Amino acid sequence: MKNILITGGAGFIGSHVVRRFVTKYPDCTIINADALTYAGNLENLADIEHEKNYIFEKVDIKNQDHLAEVFDKHNITDVIHLAAESHVDRSILSPLDFVYTNVIGTVSLLEVAKKKWAGNYKDHLFYHISTDEVYGALGDTGLFTEETRYDPHSPYSASKAASDHFVRAYHDTYGIEVVVSNCSNNYGPYHFPEKLIPLMINNIINNKPLPVYGDGKYTRDWLYVKDHAIAIDLIFHEGKIGDTYNIGGFNEWKNIDLVLLLCQQMDQKLGREPGTSKELITYVKDRPGHDRRYAIDANKINKELGWAPSVTFEEGLSETIDWFLSNKTWLDNVTSGAYASYYDYQYNNE
Ligand code: NAD
Ligand code: DAU
Repeated sequence: MKNILITGGAGFIGSHVVRRFVTKYPDCTIINADALTYAGNLENLADIEHEKNYIFEKVDIKNQDHLAEVFDKHNITDVIHLAAESHVDRSILSPLDFVYTNVIGTVSLLEVAKKKWAGNYKDHLFYHISTDEVYGALGDTGLFTEETRYDPHSPYSASKAASDHFVRAYHDTYGIEVVVSNCSNNYGPYHFPEKLIPLMINNIINNKPLPVYGDGKYTRDWLYVKDHAIAIDLIFHEGKIGDTYNIGGFNEWKNIDLVLLLCQQMDQKLGREPGTSKELITYVKDRPGHDRRYAIDANKINKELGWAPSVTFEEGLSETIDWFLSNKTWLDNVTSGAYASYYDYQYNNE
């Protein structure tokens, strides 16, 4: 019987991972450790919060004493580490927050795991969730493989790269059993509307301008969040200790083409005249240090663990839009208060 600590479980991807583990593994106890920052929201887990094998602990991963208490209290056997500051634009505004949480927070968690599991590392796993952004930017061709050299450009990706290095260093130096995965852009239900897809959905609903950075030809590789959760489940159970797995959607889109597709699907779903929403598209100043293209080679996880995306982009996007349209209260709640001042600063401060 495992007692799995999932950090950042109240966030976007974390909530899907928590839901999957709680429902699929009733014999395991899932302890969700989350500081509930602006991005953490227990509403994301309202449907499973009463399950017997689910426990929430409000913990800041920078606080080693508190983490140690949680390890003792729940006899933590394994960690799946997702807690992070995750938004590139915010990292440009406040880089140190990213160093504190993503670097110092990760090392604090590693330190506690090292002490609590000492002498018995073979029975425990520290699984670190990372991003394709650590690899930097691609030109028109090529894919990121597990061997691609790290070359981060934003404070966010630099902090994630540092955290990845620390996780591997704890494996090499102390023998902690670790595994790391680096995933491409996720989308789906509960996505916080500071990120491209949910921000555009929210603005289309509210007839607000759709801010496209630079020339709009920046390219991302999109993966439905539930497929990421499936990959995490597989890697947690079958991944090779010390290894890295790239996860991606084989699904590249230029931002402007993606926004046009969203406009088209939303006009249809909202019963608007075709072509209405695309009139809202507004080109705005570019993100500094903006990576031109990301694309993942996910062949290793496909060949070794049999994973592949289970839904097409059109299906996933349509499900996502439907979810946002039928969860207006969730959207209104997360876009009230502090969201408005962030939005104002980010988009009206040219
Ligand atoms: P998110 O911002 O939606 O959620 C982050 C969660 O971490 C929130 O619940 C927040 O409260 C919590 N958190 C932040 N600081 C904390 C702290 N100091 N202590 C404890 N909890 C804290 O992020 P997300 O998009 O769900 O990303 C989750 C993880 O996956 C991150 O590590 C991110 O780097 C990685 N990732 C994200 C994507 C993506 O497309 N969103 C892709 C690849 C990898
Ligand atoms: O690649 C994985 C990463 O994907 C994760 O590690 C990050 O946590 C996650 O936030 C995401 O980073 P991106 O910077 O790629 O995602 P974002 O949604 O912020 O932006 C996607 C693209 O859209 C990017 O090229 C910037 C552009 N963009 C974004 C916003 C918010 C716009 O053109 N306008 C916008 O308003």
